[in-house]
Amino acid sequence: MSAPRLLNLGCGCRFHPDWLNVDLVSRHPEVMECDLSCGLPFAEASMDAVYASHMLEHLERHEASSLLSECRRVLRPGGVLRLAVPDFEAMARLYVQILDGCLAGDEEARRRYEWITLELFDQLVRTRPGGDVVRYWAKDPMPAEAFVFERVGEEARRAIDALRAKGGALPPEPQGAEAQARFRKSGELHRWMYDRWSLACLLTQAGFAQPQACGADASAIPGFAAYGLETDEQGRVRKPDSLFMEALRP
Ligand SMILES: C[S@@+](CC[C@H](N)C(=O)[O-])C[C@H]1O[C@@H](n2cnc3c(N)ncnc32)[C@H](O)[C@@H]1O
Repeated sequence: MSAPRLLNLGCGCRFHPDWLNVDLVSRHPEVMECDLSCGLPFAEASMDAVYASHMLEHLERHEASSLLSECRRVLRPGGVLRLAVPDFEAMARLYVQILDGCLAGDEEARRRYEWITLELFDQLVRTRPGGDVVRYWAKDPMPAEAFVFERVGEEARRAIDALRAKGGALPPEPQGAEAQARFRKSGELHRWMYDRWSLACLLTQAGFAQPQACGADASAIPGFAAYGLETDEQGRVRKPDSLFMEALRP
């Protein structure tokens, strides 16, 4: 039996050599450079599975729709598309709960408030690498620290430890219009947010069947967990704030 043909879109530093790994910026020979807002340079029905973790929200809405249509084109019939995105529904529910707590005088809710608003907005509007999130992380101790660690998971916790080890030194601010424009094109900003409903609608519109939210440890892609794309060495979920969804190419 031939090896499965697997495509990881917007892989960043999280890739496995059994997959064809693609990102806007390649910092490793295993990663092919490609701007995913311009389509997929792969043949029709050439893939068994396509995976994109925390990538779709970096595209404009029309680009996200086009990319999903492209995913459908490159998948074989019966192939699986797996997406992970920040879970807008979970954030919004938590925001309302925290706001209610603040207004009712709950001190813990008041400590959590700034973080949940950063989660909701910062990556959509920031004008410098890391935005106000890294400024919040640089506080030692940071407000509502246990809550933040629970939200962001181990991966971000390591980034926070590294930041603290450097004495909280922050990335430089892009200076001038050109540097700002480059930053806006760098792939760091979020352009939209998705929930169970909007993501399922987008998948259906792109011609996918059976869009379903699932757990980090559940997948129709054979042996997915063994690639370690969504869990760390200890089996912990890398990005616990995620909505995971899979759909099939009919
Ligand atoms: C938040 S990171 C996620 C990385 C990895 N998939 C993960 O789960 O850790 C988003 C990635 O999407 C990539 N990206 C953003 N816009 C892109 C585009 N237009 N084309 C290709 N990759 C893009 C970024 O370069 C970055 O590596």
